[in-house]
Amino acid sequence: MNITRGIFEHERGRVAELFLDAFDQQLGGIFGPRPRALAFIARSLRTDFAISVRDESGTIVGVAGYHSPSGALLAFDYRSLMAEFGLFGGALRMVRLAWMDHKTHPTNFAIEGICVDKALRNRGIGSCIIEALAQEARAQGCPALSLKVLKTNVGAIRLYESRGFVAWTPHRLSLFPDLERSTLMVRYLT
Ligand SMILES: CC(C)(COP(=O)(O)OP(=O)(O)OC[C@H]1O[C@@H](n2cnc3c(N)ncnc32)[C@H](O)[C@@H]1OP(=O)(O)O)[C@@H](O)C(=O)NCCC(=O)NCCS
Repeated sequence: MNITRGIFEHERGRVAELFLDAFDQQLGGIFGPRPRALAFIARSLRTDFAISVRDESGTIVGVAGYHSPSGALLAFDYRSLMAEFGLFGGALRMVRLAWMDHKTHPTNFAIEGICVDKALRNRGIGSCIIEALAQEARAQGCPALSLKVLKTNVGAIRLYESRGFVAWTPHRLSLFPDLERSTLMVRYLT
């Protein structure tokens, strides 16, 4: 396995596929039918802001996007959403994406999503990606890593806890805290 920063231009489609498969619950439906969603996600990726793992044949088998002070892998801006989905459709999707956003912890380095090929899970690839993300955050002078995970994703939460993440509650008013579907987690870097 080979772990590097960034993805190549020709890997956009593969990464979009990994993301859509892994985050169907969150992303499914937002960008329309699968072929359209894949094409839109692939086009929107900013290829520098990722950690990727490839197998011996050079195929991406795991990837994580991050949002750092200099940019983010999943760069869905209003202009591109409007160009693809129209004025109203673009605005609607912008609101849905903003709702999912989690840059509420002052870490400056947020993990947008980690996914590993289904066939290769539980072999340590996810853990390697997390350590590479921590290294990247340190190199960028960020004090912590944060991420948002669905409360039902108990396997991922267990993995994050074993890699030093703890649940973090933002100091903001939540009218219905028990209805929130996700937990915000933070790993402080020393
Ligand atoms: C979450 C996800 C990225 C984890 O990736 P992974 O490569 O399976 O992660 P790891 O292999 O490092 O760790 C998973 C488990 O395998 C164990 N493991 C690690 N290396 C291992 C090895 N060599 N042999 C056997 N088990 C191993 C880990 O200890 C961990 O165990 P735990 O569940 O008891 O904590 C992956 O399951 C995934 O893509 N899920 C779908 C997308 C998703 O939910 N992402 C998170 C959203 S926030």
